[in-house]
Amino acid sequence: LIRSVSLRRVLDSRGNSTVEADVLTESGGFGRAAAPSGASTGEYEAIELPTGEAIAAARQHAVPRLIGEVHAGNQRDVDAALHAADGTDDFSEIGANSAVAISMAAAKAGADVLGAPLYQHLGGTFRGDNFPIPLGNVVGGGEHAKEATHIQEFLAAPVGAPSVSEAVFANAAVHDRIGALLDERGIAAGKGDEGAWAPPIDDATAFELVAEATDDVADDVGFDIGIGLDVAASELYDADDEVYRYGDVERTPAEQVDYIADLVSEYDLAYVEDPVEENDFDGFADLTARVGDRTVLCGDDLFVTNVDRLQRGIDEGAGNAILVKPNQIGTLSDAVDAVELATRNGLQAVVSHRSGETEDATIAHLAVATDAPFIKTGTVGGERTAKLNELIRIAEDAV
Ligand code: PGA
Ligand code: ZN
Repeated sequence: LIRSVSLRRVLDSRGNSTVEADVLTESGGFGRAAAPSGASTGEYEAIELPTGEAIAAARQHAVPRLIGEVHAGNQRDVDAALHAADGTDDFSEIGANSAVAISMAAAKAGADVLGAPLYQHLGGTFRGDNFPIPLGNVVGGGEHAKEATHIQEFLAAPVGAPSVSEAVFANAAVHDRIGALLDERGIAAGKGDEGAWAPPIDDATAFELVAEATDDVADDVGFDIGIGLDVAASELYDADDEVYRYGDVERTPAEQVDYIADLVSEYDLAYVEDPVEENDFDGFADLTARVGDRTVLCGDDLFVTNVDRLQRGIDEGAGNAILVKPNQIGTLSDAVDAVELATRNGLQAVVSHRSGETEDATIAHLAVATDAPFIKTGTVGGERTAKLNELIRIAEDAV
């Protein structure tokens, strides 16, 4: 049984505070985890409360329901207790940030009691030829960097990589190559929240650079590296005027679908996330009918890791993949439910970080445990490499 749950304020990668949880069991098992945080958050996500409020509310409502009551190793019981303590359907009472930190810390404590790696405890067996392909953010802007690209993320997608380690290093090489190309053109660039280059260039130039860098690196490493996007279209959408704004360029919802379909053809895109805004199931379905057989079309803000919204997408043919962010829904059980519903219906799961992260590496284990075909967790920077290096260790069974 759980003996104690401690909650504290710690730093995230943006310098904001977030919730960290420690779970200790009566038999001496220990787990620690921290909540990530989004910037381009979806309208339908579970609620993140201010850190202090989330900690106070969880101490009052959730901790008493866990201590001496629940086995850390029984994730469904832990997560049911969190839901019961909260009492709402969006974790607005104890905060999804407290909930997800406790849920993940309990999972780690449960694994510790069993003496098993977390990915095994959560239900997976790692097969060497079946690792999640890491999608690596190499250039971006949107809500993650000012005065940079309109499209939020340009991703390296090393679809042909023979191992997770080679994929991870290929993404880093693409990031490095883009840095060199920017340098050659005399473009000074900082980095966005996820470590991607955030140069003051338009989206067309970004496509040019990413295409050149992925081709160069693919030649070097000898396997295929595609291009992916997170358009994060909700952030570009002006609901009053019903247009997408790319600076001075406006696109109607119909033009947006045409634009994305054209990009898929022109750049042979391997992956496109949130190509239309989060309420436009019709547009998403239209795009899926047009190019869904050629590319991964993933719903992030559209689905928010929520099985009800995912079921609607399945019913309406909107998308063929779901982004899975445990803090969007509040617990690991809910996140696993979303993966399982997706998988049963032929959709692919993409386990994902947030723009605000910590050194917590739980999502690397979650991706392996659920046999997710993709993981999106950046390319460089300590809070990103925490997950990527953990994937390398898991592949080696050295965790
Ligand atoms: P967020 O961005 O963590 O700021 O929401 C990541 C994403 O949109 O995938
Ligand atoms: Zn996204």
